Amino acid sequence: MEDENKTPIVHLKDVVIGFNSSRPLVEITNMEIFPGEVVAVTGPSGIGKTTLLRTIAGLVKPISGYIHVCGSNPSKILRGEVGYIPQRLGLVRHASVLHNVMLGAKTNQKLPKSYFSSKEEKNYSLKTINSLGLTEKINEPVRRLSGGQQRRVAIARTLSQAPSLIMADEFLSELDEKTINMVLREIIDYVKNSKAALLVVEHDVSRAREMADHLLVIDDGRVNPFISETRTILLEAEK
Ligand SMILES: Nc1ncnc2c1ncn2[C@@H]1O[C@H](COP(=O)(O)OP(=O)(O)O)[C@@H](O)[C@H]1O
Ligand SMILES: [Mg+2]
Repeated sequence: MEDENKTPIVHLKDVVIGFNSSRPLVEITNMEIFPGEVVAVTGPSGIGKTTLLRTIAGLVKPISGYIHVCGSNPSKILRGEVGYIPQRLGLVRHASVLHNVMLGAKTNQKLPKSYFSSKEEKNYSLKTINSLGLTEKINEPVRRLSGGQQRRVAIARTLSQAPSLIMADEFLSELDEKTINMVLREIIDYVKNSKAALLVVEHDVSRAREMADHLLVIDDGRVNPFISETRTILLEAEK
């Protein structure tokens, strides 16, 4: 529906991000992410990319400004609406692949809730596990998997949640070329088919351009970025 697509899933207006108002990290005048869109954030290490994601997820309070995510204030986001894949994954390391992915499915608001919920959740989880090539690892404790496999578990957990917004922080690191292509295909197919939004942090600019509809370049130019020295540019990716 046309109208639905015109309401952004993420909207930031005149937002200042950071931990200390006398030393802000990033200023964003306007950023909108619409259903089905992929936005990649790129910029040097330590500039505030992770903090931007954490602020949108409601884990860090902005210094000032207006943030709207999935129709509400970030602190009031409904369970399952936002899928966040942190740089460090946040998996339950002693538990199995299936257990971890089912934690996502349990918050999936699109699955029917009934007496059979856990069966539906399990089937949905098995499907996402399979789509990420992890079927043989279903019962393995996560800690026994390679870094790249663990990353795929975190992605499967997020997809099984069926979120409206996925945020992924450097989620392609430790993956080989073939796996990157598989992961990108699965996650971008999900975003396009479900009309979800995808916001990724990707330090590799050419890769960011490849996957994203828009690129958010956070460009510092100084060692200690202050607001007047921080430029935030929203570019249309050349496709
Ligand atoms: N919880 C925190 N409290 C105070 N400062 C923090 C916190 N988390 C990160 N920072 C600082 O904020 C800056 C930006 O960090 P981060 O967002 O992780 O950068 P990036 O992801 O771009 O590498 C860094 O200087 C970092 O040390
Ligand atoms: Mg980071």
